[in-house]
Amino acid sequence: MKKLFILFFVLINMLMSIISLAQDVNNTISIIPKPKSFVLSEGVFKLKPSTKIFYDQNSKRVADYLTEVINPATGFNFEPQIWNGRVETNSVILSLTSANNYGKEGYSLAINPFNVIIEANELNGLFYGIQSLRQIFDAHINSVARVEGIDWELPAVVILDKPEFVWRGLNLDCCRHFMSKEFVKRYIDLLAYHKFNTLHWHLTEDQAWRIEIKKYPELTNKGGYRIYDDGSKYGGFYTQEDIKEVVAYAESRFVTVVPEIEMPGHSTAAISCYPEISCTGGPFEVGTLWGIYYDIYCAGNEKTFQFLEDVISEVVDLFPSKYIHIGGDEAPKNRWKSCDKCQQRIKDENLKDEHELQSYFVKRMEKFINSKGKQIIGWDEILEGGLAPEATVQSWRGVKGAIDAAKLGHDVIVSPTSHCYLDYLVDITDLAKVYSFDPVPPELSLDERKHVLGSEGNMWAEYAPQELIDDRLFPRMLALSEVIWTYPTERDFESFRQRVQRHYARLGLLGVKYGLETKPFEFSALFNAEKNVFDVKVNQLQNDIDLIIGSYEQELLVNQNSNQFDFTVDKSSSVLIYGEKNNNKVGKTFKYGFTFNKATRKKVILTYPFSDKYSAGGIEALTDGIRGSDSFRGGDRSWQGYQGTDFEAVVDLGDLTKVNKIAVGFFQATSSWVVFPQSVEFYTSINGVDYVSVGKVDIPSTLRNPDWTQNDFSFDIQNADVRFVKIFAKNYDELPKWHPEAGGKPWLMVDEIIVE
Ligand code: ACM
Ligand code: ZN
Repeated sequence: MKKLFILFFVLINMLMSIISLAQDVNNTISIIPKPKSFVLSEGVFKLKPSTKIFYDQNSKRVADYLTEVINPATGFNFEPQIWNGRVETNSVILSLTSANNYGKEGYSLAINPFNVIIEANELNGLFYGIQSLRQIFDAHINSVARVEGIDWELPAVVILDKPEFVWRGLNLDCCRHFMSKEFVKRYIDLLAYHKFNTLHWHLTEDQAWRIEIKKYPELTNKGGYRIYDDGSKYGGFYTQEDIKEVVAYAESRFVTVVPEIEMPGHSTAAISCYPEISCTGGPFEVGTLWGIYYDIYCAGNEKTFQFLEDVISEVVDLFPSKYIHIGGDEAPKNRWKSCDKCQQRIKDENLKDEHELQSYFVKRMEKFINSKGKQIIGWDEILEGGLAPEATVQSWRGVKGAIDAAKLGHDVIVSPTSHCYLDYLVDITDLAKVYSFDPVPPELSLDERKHVLGSEGNMWAEYAPQELIDDRLFPRMLALSEVIWTYPTERDFESFRQRVQRHYARLGLLGVKYGLETKPFEFSALFNAEKNVFDVKVNQLQNDIDLIIGSYEQELLVNQNSNQFDFTVDKSSSVLIYGEKNNNKVGKTFKYGFTFNKATRKKVILTYPFSDKYSAGGIEALTDGIRGSDSFRGGDRSWQGYQGTDFEAVVDLGDLTKVNKIAVGFFQATSSWVVFPQSVEFYTSINGVDYVSVGKVDIPSTLRNPDWTQNDFSFDIQNADVRFVKIFAKNYDELPKWHPEAGGKPWLMVDEIIVE
């Protein structure tokens, strides 16, 4: 029997070169990542309740998995049976064989009208054959409930497939936002579905320590939580039992979990619990903001190494992975420069500078980790000051780190911010850009290329709590899956994108709340003085979605001409726009605020100038009737920035005017130094010389909150006759001492002054 298989595949291999041209135009099969090769033929195999599912010797585990994923939707309660080696009709056979060379993760999947045969050398390959099979069925195979009325038919095809790269990963940051154990397991399923094999689990950070360490209980009791200004707590952690459960689940999906325990930087949570292993001794709080914190582990203190060795000793027992990721990125050397212990270490060890001190740190930890039978991975900063002998380098600041490390004979994981940072907005890193990624830098020789293990999508979670992760990762993860698994030599993006359109139904049934492929539209609003309206244009950029445009305050009469939508806005209102795909919302709701008030288009005089970097197009922005967007980086005609000064503006209403309310809009993004003012005071005048204070709003600090927020601070007055309105907003002198960039000069960001 096995011989027949070999013959069959040899034949197929010959056919492949002839028919491969037809692959992309054929509509029947649409698998992501695209198999290396496939050949469609005539006929279909129909899955029936009577179909037998066979495993041989050691493949029961994946047969059980197959039934687990196809039983619910079909309602056929398949129970796998041991295979006796005869190819029966009406059967699905999962066969491990050494007859063909598929490699560890490769497989063949042959479907004909009589049976389905998946063959591989190892269980990993069979598992990936099953993933392809799942994507050949009608999308409803992904339903968790029985679906009636579908013929579970599979077109006859032969697929030969194997991955280009051995490292196909996702780096999931569960520190900046905590993600539940169930969520992480669900992600492991989604990774496996797209033939990823590595979950790089980011478990320690400035803002949290998420992995229970028995010897240091404070790490999670205290370090697992951050505390905001109002005393509220945010956080959570994984017990060692949770970790074991996740690791075992991942193993069942052929996903290796690589833990990241950051050192020497990104360690605020740890040193807030054990300040004696920092340079200054603290005290510190668990970080509440995003950024790079200056206080890191002290490299001159033996207690630091004792601590980290104790931690690693517990970590290695929890993760069967060959690798432990030690971070190594973004470790500022400021504290080391002024620490006696660190400087003594530099002397004692004959080190040139603090970069070599970091290298000493990493090499010393590598030695310990090697002694536990594991290898280290570090971000590309670990090249600075000398690379640890056995280290694998993960390049993120471009690909230079990967090139340098590979040339030194080290393995590399290539995940530059430019293509692999899926936390970045789609405006910057869209689906096409990710699809264009080549993990192999052309600077590497053929020999050096062997060191490229693969790539990872990086999912940093500063701006993405658990419920937004799907939106960030999908569909862009699909592009990355194809880059790493298939490594298409010709990047035909449009053909890939067409397959993505078909894939959405499968993702939808898996409950994935996928996001946008690219910036969905361009928006412009021009004031039409003649009609006293805004003429608005929306130019759709992402195809194959519906744009929903509306407003609660007014009916919009929207003209559509191909990809162009036009309408006017004639009263204070918000225009809301979002995309829909398959009747599901994709991406966020974009909000454009307009105001027609007594200050609109009136002259403004400023006491302190705005910054050229955040001019919002000039002083008119403050009364142009266009509200700022949900990003202070919105650019022209949005948020106007004042750094290191207060904000004071006078609006001349032109004539004595009845005034009932004065308001001004501010933005807060404390991690980016943008703060709400401490207070806003409102004044009025009838002559522009004598002002009376009509009210003051004191603003309780919410600076520890990392969320981007907008607020209008306002004061109501009683129908006063007023010509001039003055607003004074008090800035903070400097960023407070717990801020990652303590002492920096904060920004006030203003979008609009409103007088009613
Ligand atoms: C990183 O993004 N700091 C590795
Ligand atoms: Zn020190």
